[in-house]
Amino acid sequence: MMIIQHHTASVLSIVLALLAVITLVCAQDNDADLTVTKGSGIEDLHPSSDSVQPTIFDLLEINGASTVAKLLKTSSELKDVRDLLALPSSTLTFFAPNDHAMETLPEMEYQTTFKYLTLLKPMTLVEMSNESTNILNTSLTGSKEPLRGRNGSTMGFVLAIAKQGQDHVLWSSSPQSPGRFVHGDIKASNGILHIIDKAITAPMSAEWVLQNTPDLSEFYKVSRNLNLTSESLYGKTLFAVSNSAMLQFPSETWSSPQQVLAIQSHMIAGTYYSNNLTTSKIIDPNTKASLSIAKLTDNDININDAKVLVKDILTANGKVSDTRVFTLFTID
Ligand SMILES: *[C@@H]1O[C@H](CO)[C@@H](O)[C@H](O)[C@H]1NC(C)=O
Ligand SMILES: *[C@@H]1O[C@H](CO)[C@@H](O)[C@H](O)[C@H]1NC(C)=O
Ligand SMILES: *[C@@H]1O[C@H](CO)[C@@H](O)[C@H](O)[C@H]1NC(C)=O
Ligand SMILES: *[C@@H]1O[C@H](CO)[C@@H](O)[C@H](O)[C@H]1NC(C)=O
Ligand SMILES: *[C@@H]1O[C@H](CO)[C@@H](O)[C@H](O)[C@H]1NC(C)=O
Repeated sequence: MMIIQHHTASVLSIVLALLAVITLVCAQDNDADLTVTKGSGIEDLHPSSDSVQPTIFDLLEINGASTVAKLLKTSSELKDVRDLLALPSSTLTFFAPNDHAMETLPEMEYQTTFKYLTLLKPMTLVEMSNESTNILNTSLTGSKEPLRGRNGSTMGFVLAIAKQGQDHVLWSSSPQSPGRFVHGDIKASNGILHIIDKAITAPMSAEWVLQNTPDLSEFYKVSRNLNLTSESLYGKTLFAVSNSAMLQFPSETWSSPQQVLAIQSHMIAGTYYSNNLTTSKIIDPNTKASLSIAKLTDNDININDAKVLVKDILTANGKVSDTRVFTLFTID
């Protein structure tokens, strides 16, 4: 089927997905009315003595996030987000998509996305300036509220930020097309506002990521044959093989037990991000599969001689990392 042309035939790749618990508990049903109210009074939230210093909410419009400001002001559905960003006593970080970025965000995603782009502590660019990927809890992490259009546990709703050269970038399930900072470190009375050029939405499920990444279509076929679901990947890290690697070992020719073995040797128990993989041998206690990790830097990681191509692909239940393998299955 979708066989992709590759220049480096000897190069294989892998992806990895981590999944966590699925515990969605229906919490309270808050204000379910979707009516839009004009100009609701944020001022009401401030005692006048506190309104001298602008909050994150106050600073959105003048810093290029007027679409976000307007939505927060007018949509009653977003009242909880607005209250949080306008509360003088909060200590937050908010990554606000600029007006251009908001043009492509579906309305259904507004609430989840804004909460996902909020951290419950202030963080400056300097604090996110190491070369390692920073995996940060968001205001959704561990949340028990049901989210529109989202499956699985919000435990995995972390956000990834890294410095790439002079730029800072942030992502969830698409590290290859991250958001960039347009205007960082805007100080507010209740935290720090950063303006970003892409509306980064909360992580998708591992199955969704495998199915929707074109370079993993061959690996996805095998995972589907084996009924690999977000549930069965719970608590694991998966190194998914890229198409160029898979093409050397067409999965159609594998027996079912071979497919099981192949998948098992690309999966380890536990949630690993690039920043906590270390040079070591990891043995899965259940399958006895053994993976040798060789890490020079966070951007130079080999798994059993396979090079990691894309790291830290976050999923709703964990993450997927894409690895390039040189010697996959070629062991004696
Ligand atoms: C990067 O730096 C921040 C702030 O100094 C620190 O909190 C974080 O743990 C560091 N991340 C890694 C992976 O070292
Ligand atoms: C992030 O959230 C998880 C789940 O709620 C929690 O166990 C963990 O301690 C948090 N980490 C930090 C650094 O706050
Ligand atoms: C959630 O589950 C439904 C039904 O199983 C599926 O159609 C949908 O794609 C899933 N959404 C995500 C974000 O994984
Ligand atoms: C996957 O699920 C299908 C349908 O439930 C079943 O027929 C098949 O045997 C399963 N395959 C494996 C490898 O478990
Ligand atoms: C790696 O870090 C994540 C988040 O910081 C943590 O949840 C996980 O347990 C760590 N994994 C290992 C094996 O230390």
